Amino acid sequence: MYIAILGRQPALGIAELERVFGGKSVKPLYNQAVSIDCEEFDIQRFGGVPKAGKVIAELQISSWHQVSQKIVQYYANEWSSFDGKITVGISAYNFNIDAREVQKTGIILKQKLKKYNTSLRLVPNPEPSLNSATSHHNKLGLSKNKVELLVVKTDNNKVIIAESTGAQNITAYAKRDQERPKRDAFVGMLPPKLAQIMVNLATCGAQPPMRILDPFCGTGVVLQEALLMGYCAYGTDLSAKMIEYSLENLKWLSEVRRDKFDYKVKEGDATKYQWQLQIDAVAGETYLGQPFSAPPSPAKLEEVMKNCNHIITEFLKNLGSQIQPGTPVCIAIPSWCGKDGKFTHLPLVATIARFGYKPHEFMNVSQNDLLYYREGQVVAREILVLTRI
Ligand SMILES: C[S@@+](CC[C@H](N)C(=O)[O-])C[C@H]1O[C@@H](n2cnc3c(N)ncnc32)[C@H](O)[C@@H]1O
Repeated sequence: MYIAILGRQPALGIAELERVFGGKSVKPLYNQAVSIDCEEFDIQRFGGVPKAGKVIAELQISSWHQVSQKIVQYYANEWSSFDGKITVGISAYNFNIDAREVQKTGIILKQKLKKYNTSLRLVPNPEPSLNSATSHHNKLGLSKNKVELLVVKTDNNKVIIAESTGAQNITAYAKRDQERPKRDAFVGMLPPKLAQIMVNLATCGAQPPMRILDPFCGTGVVLQEALLMGYCAYGTDLSAKMIEYSLENLKWLSEVRRDKFDYKVKEGDATKYQWQLQIDAVAGETYLGQPFSAPPSPAKLEEVMKNCNHIITEFLKNLGSQIQPGTPVCIAIPSWCGKDGKFTHLPLVATIARFGYKPHEFMNVSQNDLLYYREGQVVAREILVLTRI
């Protein structure tokens, strides 16, 4: 059994985990963490999970004081004859406590271990939980002597203690996001983590070989993530410039990774293109309309929405005539946040079955939760997870 600490938009992480491990295997512990009934968990494959750990204890207690005593007792015994120095981070989630109380647990443990001549370095933290960057930089969870305890109080007043198996490699994400030779702020910059989530939502984490189509590939972020996850990638885009950008970015990826990836990229209008290769799954960020820095007038919103709805509907019809029943499709489509904070969704979301697609039903999240956006943004990305009927 593992636990996953969820990212900035927890619903996307839950959806990703449900698709890969099955809805019944994923159980919310509180709004930022879930348990996963699985044998193995490779954090680097999940865009929506900043940290994960293997469960070592489930306690029917809920006060930090009691939890702290258990941690000290268990690890003082566990590490009493440890050979070498141990680095420890302690992260408490969903406890209403001060960071100092969490640190105190580490300090007591350190003092106890001193008696056995075991040296412990406690990772300092001004917050009750370490952020994933600190966990990553300290390499916590990656070896026997670098440990992070993830201590989660659940909504039903149980406590789960897990030993971290690593945090997301934020250095690697930043590198592949920012060092790509071609970027384009106007077509939008899909974060690699979101692209990874979308690939998982489309493939359900299936073992390669599998060919993933992105029919709106732009600068190629989804293609890049699909290739890094071991899949074959097939990208098309209306714009010759974007095709050039994708090709250049993927060539760069092959060079820096010293890997001969299997990909093909071609110019084509997704509303009528005849794709030439077999398509096993579809993942892509469709046309999102023009960017807005403030909510548009109702007339402008209507115009942009109609245009996007038309392009994406025609694309879905064209795609549907070319893929096999059962083919999974994950697309990001636009949704607009108004002054009142409410989102306007594309009309096609409510009528998707008419075009031959069935929306996936998640156990712990609803379609309305599957929005990727940042505070203050007008255009959000709504994630649709569909199956060709
Ligand atoms: C939001 S961007 C996708 C960006 C992409 N995820 C990336 O990694 O850069 C949408 C893309 O759709 C393309 N596009 C717009 N209309 C299209 C159409 N009818 N068929 C194919 N591509 C289209 C645009 O050229 C643009 O590259």
